Amino acid sequence: MEIIILPSAQEACIYAARAVAGLITRKPTAVLGLATGSTPLPFYHELVRQHREEGLDLGQVTTFNLDEYVGLAPEHPASYHHFMRENFFSKVNIPASQTNVPDGLGTDIPATCQAYEADIAGAGGIDVQILGIGGDGHIGFNEPSSSLASRTRIKTLTQRTREDNAPFFSNPQEVPHHVITMGVGTIMETRHVILLAFGEKKAQAVAESVEGPITAMVPASVLQLHRQATILLDEGSASKLKRAEYYRWVFENKPAWQRV
Ligand code: GLP
Repeated sequence: MEIIILPSAQEACIYAARAVAGLITRKPTAVLGLATGSTPLPFYHELVRQHREEGLDLGQVTTFNLDEYVGLAPEHPASYHHFMRENFFSKVNIPASQTNVPDGLGTDIPATCQAYEADIAGAGGIDVQILGIGGDGHIGFNEPSSSLASRTRIKTLTQRTREDNAPFFSNPQEVPHHVITMGVGTIMETRHVILLAFGEKKAQAVAESVEGPITAMVPASVLQLHRQATILLDEGSASKLKRAEYYRWVFENKPAWQRV
């Protein structure tokens, strides 16, 4: 794992966006795995800025989002379809046919999930996966106790996650109980993972994921087994790491050829 601690969420998101933009420049047909939530918003803003001001061309990019609520129409303001349209897809030049978000309205959920996996495989797999992290260490909507080998499937949210996501809904009762999420196994097959986590409220989950044992009780901890995982933190989310000084030292002394 590469653990990078930057002074602010803004700087960390710019770093992530530069890494992704570099990939797209090298490989215009890159396949991106995308995340929602408040954490990656500055990441999307920076990619949009690069598209508008620096000519970053996303015309051949394909995207797959991690998850969606079951039962929410794409037009629902709290749906992840809506989030992606508002914050990213409507502001860059990725053709709509190349964007994929799990269908929360599918009547045959297992078939929907299987088709999503087949579409990822058909696109050649995900080159870089953006992740946030839940306060309990979940990635996507893979709640604690999720199989570390799981594939795209339906999950039931914990009460805590429903409460954490309630601000995005006009009424907290409206937060669905069920979601479709890429599995932990699906995420582990991506070629590069960039996990973004900011603020002290994520510090415990980050410490357990990075320095704790690998356990299904903290799904993000399995990223210790990922072949290329970059963990981008700010001071708050890094505040419970025992080896923070070492991670800073490694980053400061990174060979020039390895820098983004
Ligand atoms: C939800 C999403 C996750 C996200 C998490 C944290 O559970 N499914 O992908 O990482 O929320 O959200 P936030 O970034 O708003 O803290």
